[in-house]
Amino acid sequence: MKAPPRLQALIEEGLIDTVARQLMSGKEAQVFVVRCGDETRCAKVYKEATQRSFRQAVDYTENRKVKNTRQARAMAKGSRFGRQAIEAAWQSAEVDALYRLAAAGVRVPKPYNFHEGVLLMELVTDEHGDAAPRLNDVMFTVEQARAHHATLLTEVVRMLCAGVVHGDLSEFNILLGADGPVIIDLPQAVDAAGNNHAKRMLLRDVANLRDFFGQFAPDLLQTDYGPEIWDLYQRGVLSPDTPLTGKFKHQAGAVDVGGVMRVIDDARAEETARQLRTQSAR
Ligand SMILES: Nc1ncnc2c1ncn2[C@@H]1O[C@H](COP(=O)(O)OP(=O)(O)OP(=O)(O)O)[C@@H](O)[C@H]1O
Ligand SMILES: [Mg+2]
Repeated sequence: MKAPPRLQALIEEGLIDTVARQLMSGKEAQVFVVRCGDETRCAKVYKEATQRSFRQAVDYTENRKVKNTRQARAMAKGSRFGRQAIEAAWQSAEVDALYRLAAAGVRVPKPYNFHEGVLLMELVTDEHGDAAPRLNDVMFTVEQARAHHATLLTEVVRMLCAGVVHGDLSEFNILLGADGPVIIDLPQAVDAAGNNHAKRMLLRDVANLRDFFGQFAPDLLQTDYGPEIWDLYQRGVLSPDTPLTGKFKHQAGAVDVGGVMRVIDDARAEETARQLRTQSAR
């Protein structure tokens, strides 16, 4: 196909040779299959902020590292320079997370380059060499569902041990590659230690895995891995080979007022983001 303008710069730089086809147009990006020498890769072209949904409205950007105080002030004020800085932080968060997770041994697409708002990465493929399906597009037996659930829980733990919470993990953001599940789509990934929402996001990620695989293996619906994982993490004793039980005794201790307020604030922010989304979809 004719290369779309956003990929032209990468062709000029010699980073890609040709554009084979468009794979997907998601909410936040367009994804293309490209050829680089004799390799096939995947190019994720981020949409401009105005065309995107509003995942970042829910304070995912809290505690994102910014380069300097001028940038931080501009981001807080919402000036044009500030919006550009937020934009850049959003896009580079995915690249940063991919490098960090690949180094920690998490099965994510191998990142190759990030240039002009385009992320070049490994194309995850199925056993025939075709672009891999999302979990949502596949049916599983009870045994397969249990096995993938266990694999993905270990991946979540490995990510957490590397200091990262995905924040939008679901059957739509996991591909079934020839070698098993591969986690994708990380621009909203947060720093596990420095973000007040990290716990809630981790619990939601783990609950999404349970609910999805629980459709195929209903016994999984009784499990409670999220709070167990977070508790071990917080006590500093979590490692990728810590045995997990799926059971957690919830403490009926003192009420954490700050925590409750945060949940209320989060619900409000999510509702605002939802309204913005429906408005922009109209
Ligand atoms: N590395 C990859 N290999 C194969 N397919 C990929 C890869 N990255 C993305 N895709 C495909 O492109 C789709 C969109 O990618 P991604 O989820 O990263 O972007 P998005 O804009 O956030 O999409 P959405 O809004 O649908 O979540 C994925 O569902 C998947 O089918
Ligand atoms: Mg996605």
